[in-house]
Amino acid sequence: MDSDRRVALTGFMGVGKSSVARHLSSILRCGRIDLDAYIEKSEGRSIADIINTDGEPAYRVIETANLKAVLNGTDARILSLGGGTWTIPANRELIVGSGLITIWLESSFEHCWANISKSRKERPLAKNKAAARRLFDERQGIYCLADWHFIIRPEFNSYEIARQIADQVFA
Ligand code: S3P
Repeated sequence: MDSDRRVALTGFMGVGKSSVARHLSSILRCGRIDLDAYIEKSEGRSIADIINTDGEPAYRVIETANLKAVLNGTDARILSLGGGTWTIPANRELIVGSGLITIWLESSFEHCWANISKSRKERPLAKNKAAARRLFDERQGIYCLADWHFIIRPEFNSYEIARQIADQVFA
């Protein structure tokens, strides 16, 4: 087991980044940070509120500032990103520059959309299927810049994906 490795999980909304990160941190017995949760705590309001009230560009500034704080201020080895974090060039530089290994969790749009639709989390950038589909298509070519790529098939649960990541990335 490579004990020094730190990873960032990326991928589209609804793919299951947070659940996989939770299982991975318990398999590896190491610290984990969920960037969305971190932002909501440090800003004292929900991400949906920030985006709906201040707009996406303002949210991205806040997201980058919080990403910096996480990368500089904690030694958690598992970081689950928001679905848009990795798509911003400055964020990619920060993540790569901090030595994190990036993992793209990829699934079909329909699988992500089914999870988005049944989730209680408000996602202002995926208010309807057409808007979500557009973002999904735009982002595929950026997610694939990640170091590793795991395909999430509906028959695998998030524990099984975490197990595969632990066995392959942390071997
Ligand atoms: C976003 C994804 C969300 C959250 C914000 C923006 C995006 O996180 O960070 O609503 O741009 O894809 P999840 O991927 O955890 O839903």
